[in-house]
Amino acid sequence: MTTNSQSKMAARYGEPDASALLAWNDIIDQLLDHRSVRAFTAEPLPEGAVQTLIAAAQSASTSSNLQVWSVVAVQDADRKARLSSLAGNQAYIRQAPLFFVWLADLSRVTRVAEQQQAELEALPYLESLLLGTIDVSLAAQNAVVALESLGLGSVYIGAIRNDIEGVAKELGLPPHVYPVFGLCVGHPSRELPAKVKPRLPQSAVLHYETYSVDQEPEAIAEYDQRLGAFYQREGMKASGWSEQVVNRLSSVANLHGRERLVEQMLRMGFGLR
Ligand SMILES: Cc1cc2nc3c(=O)[nH]c(=O)nc-3n(C[C@H](O)[C@H](O)[C@H](O)COP(=O)(O)O)c2cc1C
Repeated sequence: MTTNSQSKMAARYGEPDASALLAWNDIIDQLLDHRSVRAFTAEPLPEGAVQTLIAAAQSASTSSNLQVWSVVAVQDADRKARLSSLAGNQAYIRQAPLFFVWLADLSRVTRVAEQQQAELEALPYLESLLLGTIDVSLAAQNAVVALESLGLGSVYIGAIRNDIEGVAKELGLPPHVYPVFGLCVGHPSRELPAKVKPRLPQSAVLHYETYSVDQEPEAIAEYDQRLGAFYQREGMKASGWSEQVVNRLSSVANLHGRERLVEQMLRMGFGLR
């Protein structure tokens, strides 16, 4: 058990001498083994998988039990292809047998209020949008943990926000609903296995009592080196994390259309007060 914990920690932090964890079990073992899967076999999903994953998703906590999220399960090849075109042409959206589009959904509560002829004064605030976004993220991550426990793999697709109005049209979304991210789901390819990608040292993300950046420079320097070594082992360009961060965030062009989110959301009925 301890050996397993040590090897999983070594992979998670890209640090061969990482310490074993004292608190450990099979669930934590699986969580530390997560990797995004971007190559899938043609094998269909196990029977009932969708319902199981959604039961897991709905078991997540939800703010005030409002359950302001929904999900569209897309299996139709043509629709997956159109969604792929809307989301940076990522090939795995086409390849995966199942593509979930996770939605922050304030429309259901709007319909409930209409039934009662009530006005939802608190709805057009940024807080409501955050609420739906947070709830659907917790739900989706539960589904990811569940699918990995079934031997399936997945990758989130944030690029679904490149054109939220295009996606809304494709999926027939009513006002007050926006796609937060997609999720490709399928059996991981054995020929192109995904690897565990190292994360920042805990000293960069974990603060005790108050926030401190004292250990940050050292932690980031270590991580630059470890992530670079990981990419080199994988035969990819050996850039460090700092370089990636700046590349990703230094230009609005890298938002690929997401710089228009506020105006699109306003048109889709969200208030952002
Ligand atoms: C909300 C979200 C959106 C993401 N969008 C994409 C995406 O559009 N395309 C992609 O290939 N990976 C996407 N990813 C996967 C991340 O790149 C991946 O989680 C990260 O590099 C860490 O790798 P790992 O999941 O294998 O540990 C996304 C992840 C999250 C959480």
